[in-house]
Amino acid sequence: MELQGKTAVITGGASGIGLATAYQFASSGANIVIGDIEDAPREASVAKLRDTGAKVIGVKTDVVNEADVEALRDAALDEFGAVHIVFNNAGVAAGPTIGTPKKIWDWVLDVNVDGVVNGLNVFLPLLLEQNEGHVINTASLAGLGGVPGMGAYCASKFAVVGISESLLQELIFRGSNVGVSALCPGFVKTRIFESQRNMPNELKSYNEDPEVAAINNIAQGAVQAGIDADQVALAIEKAVRNNEFWILTHERAAIRITEQRLEWMKGGPIPGISLESATKP
Ligand SMILES: NC(=O)c1ccc[n+]([C@@H]2O[C@H](COP(=O)([O-])OP(=O)(O)OC[C@H]3O[C@@H](n4cnc5c(N)ncnc54)[C@H](O)[C@@H]3O)[C@@H](O)[C@H]2O)c1
Repeated sequence: MELQGKTAVITGGASGIGLATAYQFASSGANIVIGDIEDAPREASVAKLRDTGAKVIGVKTDVVNEADVEALRDAALDEFGAVHIVFNNAGVAAGPTIGTPKKIWDWVLDVNVDGVVNGLNVFLPLLLEQNEGHVINTASLAGLGGVPGMGAYCASKFAVVGISESLLQELIFRGSNVGVSALCPGFVKTRIFESQRNMPNELKSYNEDPEVAAINNIAQGAVQAGIDADQVALAIEKAVRNNEFWILTHERAAIRITEQRLEWMKGGPIPGISLESATKP
């Protein structure tokens, strides 16, 4: 798909990977609709994008709330008349498998999984009807293999990979021209391990737990050693243009994780975890 004159809706588009992709798509001539829960970063991002000449609107959106996602769709249609690219990207990280309260699991799964489901339910009918479009769902390397300290996050990202694969098979079965990609990055320099900024207030005391703070510190270090979000945005645009399913910005790590998993299933050793290898493309 060529991007010139097309409209892309990007959830979580006020920061990190979503914002870098907004710049990338806009530089290729796409109209941009940013849906994000954070007011000040969303408004600042929209203003800066407009300064570059981009056609862009921002809409306050909590992806967990289906009515918000419907309002995002309606705003996109009012402004630009159609939607062609849907980037279900808003996400948060928290929660080791041992000792994480259910409310934290729910928050991570609500944003990372229900957010994608709401995006699909609200936007897919438009794309199917026009028989044109592309959906990108943000998963992670944490959707290809288990990671210590990230049980809730892994659960959510495995779900996003599964949803995306099922969607691909359903689109093929229907003979649809709509495409889908699963974005599975390793570490990228963003604010993902400051996700607590978007936590409901009643959950925030969870971050004071020393074990949680220690895990966040380790993850922050890996994020800072990661690749730039611009590189991810370039890979996303390539996948949209060429209708590619897997977006593996850290390809060697993705393939190693998957091969080790296969060997493990065949009776081999439990895979070792290397956060360092997940920082390199
Ligand atoms: N940074 C990494 O290392 C990395 C690696 C793999 C996958 N990811 C995934 O990439 C996606 C983007 O994250 P990022 O790394 O750019 O982090 P980020 O924190 O910089 O950006 C996330 C954006 O999502 C928004 N958001 C959070 N909750 C929301 C909600 N309920 N509704 C709407 N918007 C919401 C935030 O306000 C923020 O603008 C996430 O799904 C994340 O899990 C990130």
